[in-house]
Amino acid sequence: MAHSLARSTLGLTSPAPIEPPKITFAAKEIDLVEWKGDILAVGVTEKDMVKDESSKFQSSILKKLDAHLGGLLAEASSEEDFTGKAGQSTVLRLPGLGSKRVGLVGLGRCVSTSASYLSLGEAVAGAAKAVQASNVAIALASSNGLSADSKLNTAKAIVSGAVLGIYEDNRFKSESKKPALKSVDIIGFGTGPELQKKLKYAEDVCSGIIFGKELVNAPANVLTPGVLAEEASKIASMYSDVLSATILDAEQCKELKMGSYLGVAAASANPPHFIHLCYKPSSGLVKAKLALVGKGLTFDSGGYNIKTGPGCSIELMKFDMGGSAAVLGAAKALGQIKPAGVEVHFIIAACENMISGTGMRPGDIVTASNGKTIEVNNTDAEGRLTLADALVYACNQGVEKIVDLATLTGACVVALGPSVAGIFTPSDDLAKEVLAASEISGEKLWRMPLEESYWESMKSGVADMVNTGGRQGGAITAALFLKQFVDENVQWMHIDMAGPVWNDKKKTATGFGISTLVEWVLKNSSS
Ligand code: BES
Ligand code: MN
Ligand code: ZN
Repeated sequence: MAHSLARSTLGLTSPAPIEPPKITFAAKEIDLVEWKGDILAVGVTEKDMVKDESSKFQSSILKKLDAHLGGLLAEASSEEDFTGKAGQSTVLRLPGLGSKRVGLVGLGRCVSTSASYLSLGEAVAGAAKAVQASNVAIALASSNGLSADSKLNTAKAIVSGAVLGIYEDNRFKSESKKPALKSVDIIGFGTGPELQKKLKYAEDVCSGIIFGKELVNAPANVLTPGVLAEEASKIASMYSDVLSATILDAEQCKELKMGSYLGVAAASANPPHFIHLCYKPSSGLVKAKLALVGKGLTFDSGGYNIKTGPGCSIELMKFDMGGSAAVLGAAKALGQIKPAGVEVHFIIAACENMISGTGMRPGDIVTASNGKTIEVNNTDAEGRLTLADALVYACNQGVEKIVDLATLTGACVVALGPSVAGIFTPSDDLAKEVLAASEISGEKLWRMPLEESYWESMKSGVADMVNTGGRQGGAITAALFLKQFVDENVQWMHIDMAGPVWNDKKKTATGFGISTLVEWVLKNSSS
């Protein structure tokens, strides 16, 4: 579909065409002491570090390594005070093994989660970067206790952590070094087609996550709504056997009566683009129809209710399209994985929240595509206005379930902090499905209440509703607002990811949401 050419030249910046690093993975069943390479890393729980009366490890793997090293491992590990606590790690250069170095990475007490295995992979990537290692092996001190299924998911989490840990977004730096890491071997997880398939799956999901991170990291002068639409179209043409794209311009959105979305877009010189990708398996019956809806504000200035004052983070508001990045990252991964029996719609009402004489004023009344009227008492509560029309559009696709993702409220960050997303849904079944998916992906979600009595604060004197209630329960009233635009007979979940979209310490996007979405879609597929 035709849409105006969207490349912005402001600042003369364009991203360098750097390909993400290509790392090969292999599952190997060899003796750890014989593995040859730069770093042999072992994930160790606090329980594994317990030694018997004669100061020997009880874990058979650690015992064997230690025997080959003449007890140096036990000594070194106690002198370095390594107890296996989560976040601890130590790399030692020890003679006596095939590997040049041995690394120990703490996994915490003994219950292990996907999140802890992701961190293991990340820690190994960090160690590899520090010594410019080109090949590493990763094993667990005790992997025998794991069921076949959790072995597969553990291997997946470890290699994902390694790929994402080694990746750096250097597209906007004038100089950058290529990462040295070429291969990651995982030892002790078995071999065979099932594990191969899992590793391929991890690679596909990671490529989606890296794509999502790059979208979020790209500044708003580079990633305009039009460029976001172009990126979506590229994904669709890359996997054209299963994906197709429809991009609507402002005129077409007007025909669909999307007054709420167009109100937000009205002040920007960069026109809005409504993005709809559709995934259909190339053969076989479709059993489930799903929609993923993402907030796609390529920049959020706040509008006339401009973001001012310390802590408002206006300079970070390029990340306000993190929900749409999650949706497109999932589309890319699913385009590669090609699950059977499921149809997925990826929907984004992309635009910019700016200020100009053509823009929405506080107090204006807009009319959404389901006919409901909204008194805009705060132009900074723009995400929900764009999602309103996107949700109505999603319901019109005849889907059974919708998950929307949005960097929607600062209130959610106050409630749950920077690494946990809030989920809101009237459906216990959908909550169960998505929470189960997040346990495998290792992403942190927490269910919040959709407290209907708080709707009181969203009543307007002149329209059907206002777009913001008071300061109290701000993440909940935002979710209640979205609920006004979802058909009763559609299962719906809203994910507020305003906290986890961005890593403040690392100053980079996280790619949050993608791995949980892909996992959830696969749960609804027949493959
Ligand atoms: N994009 C912001 C939410 C946000 C704030 C995300 C901080 C990440 C960090 C959203 O559009 C917004 O401005 N929300 C307002 C709502 C308020 C006006 C009711 C907020 O949270 O302050
Ligand atoms: Mn805002
Ligand atoms: Zn916003």
